[in-house]
Amino acid sequence: MIDLANLEKKFTARYNTRPRIFRAPGRVNLIGEHTDYNDGFVLPAALDFATYAACALREDRRVRVATLTLDREFEFSLDDPPDADFPAWTKYVQGIALILERSGYPLKGADILIDSNVPIGSGLSSSAALEVSIGSAFAGLNGHKVVGMELAKIGQSAEHEFAGVRSGIMDQFAAVFGKAGHALFLDCRSLEYEAVPVGEAKFIICNTKVKHDLAESEYNKRRSQCEEAAAFFGRPSLRDVSPADLDTRSADLPTLLLKRARHVVTENERVVAAVKALRSGDLSAFGNLMNGSHNSLRDDFEVSCRELDIMVEIARRQPGVLGARMTGGGFGGCTINLVEAAHHKDFVDRIFSEYPAETGIEPEIYRCEIADGAEEIV
Ligand code: GLA
Repeated sequence: MIDLANLEKKFTARYNTRPRIFRAPGRVNLIGEHTDYNDGFVLPAALDFATYAACALREDRRVRVATLTLDREFEFSLDDPPDADFPAWTKYVQGIALILERSGYPLKGADILIDSNVPIGSGLSSSAALEVSIGSAFAGLNGHKVVGMELAKIGQSAEHEFAGVRSGIMDQFAAVFGKAGHALFLDCRSLEYEAVPVGEAKFIICNTKVKHDLAESEYNKRRSQCEEAAAFFGRPSLRDVSPADLDTRSADLPTLLLKRARHVVTENERVVAAVKALRSGDLSAFGNLMNGSHNSLRDDFEVSCRELDIMVEIARRQPGVLGARMTGGGFGGCTINLVEAAHHKDFVDRIFSEYPAETGIEPEIYRCEIADGAEEIV
């Protein structure tokens, strides 16, 4: 847990005033991977890992921002143009401020101190947590009401423009709309969603501790391939392609595009089936769908990696494991595992011994507690 009293004390010592504190969580995706930018379905949940922005308004247009996580500090003006030389983490802060002003929300400067326990670069959306906490902070300090989908979209724009990743809406959506004890079933086309209680389902997250540098360029490449495949079918997006379309036209479609399309089309079906299984408490059906999702991401969408596959294979060998899959964009990061409660301890012990034996890497393992979305801490 983040020590909020310590964050407040450090802020006051640094900036000589008491802060307001805004929080936004990371997320784990239960199922529905690489479907969001194809107008499809996703089922993420917000985590109790979160990013906290302690902040106070300034009377000028300077922004001083520091992070306890990285032990860094940076200063810029709200009038500075986007600067490629800014350190990566500050680009999100500047990006959010620029997009808010561009969207009609004039800002004053701010002093900000960030703390976070969202594992960085692990597929648990540390960047969305940063974007949404900073967006809430700037908006809140300046008296603007920027909430809900508008806040999520501002975060997503920062990701596109300032991090160069053409991501979908899932991560920022989960950071904003998270609900304790619930997964969020989102239709990424209509943006309608339902919170589905996870009930008895208990998930464990295993971090492979692998971060592949190619992730961003490969992500954008996958998105283009999906667009190409949708264009082949003459449809606005792969959401509009049915399994029957795939069957009839598969011979004409280049193999690579067929594989990409098949992943998205079948993954959308799996999400819908998974929501049904969760609602009826059929956890073994849910677990099977998770397994199907991983296999499809590994074989058809090709966004897994050796360590993710090893982690999933080890998990599937353990008693009480109903399903295991990679979660998030891929090329490293975490797996999510649906494990019967009685087997949790053994599962964790076995991952801690078997994963390093096969990879030489010490993993991290987290119990998945599902938390609320962004809020001001009062
Ligand atoms: C990343 C992106 C999301 C989504 C996932 C894959 O987390 O930010 O928008 O596309 O990858 O499901």
